[in-house]
Amino acid sequence: MSPIHQTILNKKTSNPPIWIMRQAGRYLPEFRNIRKENPDFIKLCLNESLSSEITLQPLKRFKLDAAIIFSDILMIPYALDQKVEFKKNFGPILGDFDFNHSSQISEEKFFNNLKPVYNAINLVSKNELLKEKNTIGFVGAPWTLLVYTINKQSPKKNINKDFFKNDLLIKDILNLLIKFTKIHIKNQVEAGANLIQIFDSWAGLLEKSDYDKYIYNPTLELVNYVKTLKVPVICFPRGIKDYKSYCEIVKPDAVNIDYDVDPHEIKKLIKIPIQGGLDPKMLLTDKDNLKKEVNKYLEIFKDHPYIFNLGHGVLPETNPDMVEYLVNIVKDYK
Ligand code: CP3
Repeated sequence: MSPIHQTILNKKTSNPPIWIMRQAGRYLPEFRNIRKENPDFIKLCLNESLSSEITLQPLKRFKLDAAIIFSDILMIPYALDQKVEFKKNFGPILGDFDFNHSSQISEEKFFNNLKPVYNAINLVSKNELLKEKNTIGFVGAPWTLLVYTINKQSPKKNINKDFFKNDLLIKDILNLLIKFTKIHIKNQVEAGANLIQIFDSWAGLLEKSDYDKYIYNPTLELVNYVKTLKVPVICFPRGIKDYKSYCEIVKPDAVNIDYDVDPHEIKKLIKIPIQGGLDPKMLLTDKDNLKKEVNKYLEIFKDHPYIFNLGHGVLPETNPDMVEYLVNIVKDYK
């Protein structure tokens, strides 16, 4: 059994397994080389030979315990025929979501639109580098996808007041996103993903009174669905104000904490396996400081099932040597 699966089943491993959010990405020169020749990000995600190669790049360099497929949470709106583009130094820009059109898209059409992603998962999961390791499939949580489909770009600090004005349409879009997110999860598992992570990157935008409707109920539906597929599911409700209630209600197999969470406190509050926490900015400091911070998390979670990771994705300006240093500290931890 892979070290991550063991940790999720509460089995003791000699040291915590490790993978890193956005481990395949712009901080790696070998990624930037491919990206330079492929200006269209979506097309790159749909090129199975390149996307599987990019997925494996960090595993060739570092002793990581999992590969996360090189794709994006916005591939779902894309496959529902919403226009999705990525602008340099800005991020995603989406077109209008046409509910009447998107709701007519068949499961088969959706599968065909994303077929190269599933083929890439299949290629990666069979690679020698992934023996006894995990191939992670992922989705955005319904709330975070709703934010992108309606806001059409990353929100700044808050979402526009008009966001919720068409309550009926929002409900319909949310249900459609849930339906296709389940299909995308199933397709990834059938292709070879043996772990699913659900990213709720914009959970922090909501007030607690909105959690039931937009976070708890939709995510619970997905988590229960993943459980029927017999693969573990890790949830990352970034910035949520109450991780404890989230875990009790949504019941993921493990939870990823963000870097604002106090690791001492959360360990006392949460019984399920924990992943992540380290501030990605620590990788921009020096080795002594990084070591101190990494050891802090390792010490705090030494008697709790723990998967090492960051509290958000690795930053593009990170030096890969610092990532190597981090991975080695975790691997050498006694
Ligand atoms: O290595 C990995 O983690 C796998 C690949 C992955 C990407 N996006 C590739 C990517 C994963 C897991 C994601 C998830 C994702 N995408 C999230 C959830 C996690 C989070 O960061 O909160 C979100 C909100 C998105 C949407 C998205 N995609 C944004 C906001 C951006 C632009 C900002 C940025 O971080 O670059 C992207 C583009 C994107 N997705 C890139 C990569 C490698 C950069 C593309 C480039 O090379 O310009």
